Amino acid sequence: MAPEEKSFHMTTEEFRRYGRAVVDWIADYYDRIESLPVLSPVQPGEIRAALPAAPPATGEPFDAILRDVERVLLPGITHWQSPNFFAYFPANASPPAILGELLSAGFGVQGMLWATSPACTELETHVLDWLVGMLGLPEKFLSTGAGGGVIQDTASSATLCALLAARERATGFAVNQRGGDARLTAYTSTQAHSSVEKAVKIAGLGRENLRLIEVDDKFAMRPEALARALDADRRAGRVPCFVCATVGSTSSNALDPVAEIGAICKERGVWLHVDAAMSGTAALCPEFRFIHGGVELADSYCFNPHKWMFTNFDCDCFYVADRRALIEALSVLPEYLRTSAAESGAVFDYRNWQIPLGRRFRALKLWFVIRHYGVEGLRHHIRRHVELAQQFAAWVRADERFELAAPAPLNLVCFRHRGSDAANQTLLDRLNQSGALYLTHTRLNDRLTLRLSVGQTRTEARHVQRAWQRIQQEASRL
Ligand SMILES: Cc1ncc(COP(=O)(O)O)c(C=O)c1O
Repeated sequence: MAPEEKSFHMTTEEFRRYGRAVVDWIADYYDRIESLPVLSPVQPGEIRAALPAAPPATGEPFDAILRDVERVLLPGITHWQSPNFFAYFPANASPPAILGELLSAGFGVQGMLWATSPACTELETHVLDWLVGMLGLPEKFLSTGAGGGVIQDTASSATLCALLAARERATGFAVNQRGGDARLTAYTSTQAHSSVEKAVKIAGLGRENLRLIEVDDKFAMRPEALARALDADRRAGRVPCFVCATVGSTSSNALDPVAEIGAICKERGVWLHVDAAMSGTAALCPEFRFIHGGVELADSYCFNPHKWMFTNFDCDCFYVADRRALIEALSVLPEYLRTSAAESGAVFDYRNWQIPLGRRFRALKLWFVIRHYGVEGLRHHIRRHVELAQQFAAWVRADERFELAAPAPLNLVCFRHRGSDAANQTLLDRLNQSGALYLTHTRLNDRLTLRLSVGQTRTEARHVQRAWQRIQQEASRL
């Protein structure tokens, strides 16, 4: 018999034991999360100072590692999974998503090609097709036609991929071959997410060639201003190639008029991408599908289950109406990635739908979430979040010390104390320092504005009620 090889690996028995301990730790964390300050109070450098200067020369017991998670790291965690987290947009998670993520790590597959794990590709295609129906998206995004969906890490990557496909479509794939000549232009509103500007920089269009289109009093893009900008550029010999409309802007949840923007783009042959990163999830509920009016005119669309659909970061669903443009823009085929399955044309190799080569099995967590909640469960919680935000907006309206700073169509409320910017800043700082809740700010019409975003998995009426009480109390101290 061959002698047993020396090994430092964790045995499967130990893995069973410690795995249970970690799941227990997470469950206990969720049970006590409301007792922890939502915004981490640590100072810069504090966490590093608590870590040993040198790595361990010999392995340490797992219990010691877990103890340090509690002792060293927990104070430096901002609790995004707290029901009192109302900042930014949510990045919510849920137990079924976490378990799907664990299983994905367990399989440890790298799904760059269909052949490197057929289930990884096919489950992704299937779940993204389900979501077309679940959100009432146009059928042209289904993989059974000319389009299809793919999971990207983030909406930023989706926007970049859409822009690259648009750039190549507009130039007959010339930029990929020869590089650009600085004639291409792109368009989005002044309220669009910064990822559009980043994409324009990365794709080589140049920031000066991104036109920021003015918005109306609801912070939505003015379509007539877009048409004017497109036509002026074309007259000046430029090549407009990409428009990004936002459904639910980051600052104020503004809804760009996609139908009008779409008609303008169609008429001029310009690629329209719709960024519905946070708000797209609302379309699970038929009564909120109005937000997607006009998406049938878009060339591409994305939303993030990792924001508001109980699926832990990272998971962005990106759809294209014509997958050939995307695949042709991003494909490179070295000999070592050739497979007979791909050559038969019967499968998708998702590496050609994204920037990196490698990809994780992200569809698993999305599948777990959709199967656990069902459409009914997802709708219930989304509706509840919207109701709670609307209740909060009503309270703001009824208190003469406060005002709404923008319409609140869904689950984000932008509001401010009628006092100065300094008063609002003090209010925000005191609320966040209290640890009881976490809000963030924006600027609207050049005034400091507070944002209350309702979308954390476990946020219930009592959390929003307590947040409002706290805001009122702090306002009385101003
Ligand atoms: C409208 C919108 N688009 C894009 C993004 C960027 O999201 P990601 O982190 O997935 O790139 C955000 C983030 O909040 C957003 O609100």
